[in-house]
Amino acid sequence: MSKINLTICMGSSCFARGNNDNLELLEKYIEENNLQDKIELAGARCSNQCSDGPHIFINEKKYDNIDFEKIKQLISEHLKNN
Ligand code: FES
Repeated sequence: MSKINLTICMGSSCFARGNNDNLELLEKYIEENNLQDKIELAGARCSNQCSDGPHIFINEKKYDNIDFEKIKQLISEHLKNN
């Protein structure tokens, strides 16, 4: 089973619009659910698409206007299909 690559935009716009909390919640979620072997978490710089942020990328696909509920949903979908 390959790892999910989850990249979170750390640019100032996405960060201020939710990814600051999302990052913290995500780190906690990965630890509490023992997902360290299943999710590779990384940060990205601003990709100049701030207007529909905050963004995350999962396996290089971009997801817009995300919140933590949506991130959890995307993770479980990807884990199921992996
Ligand atoms: S800060 Fe995320 S795209 Fe610009």
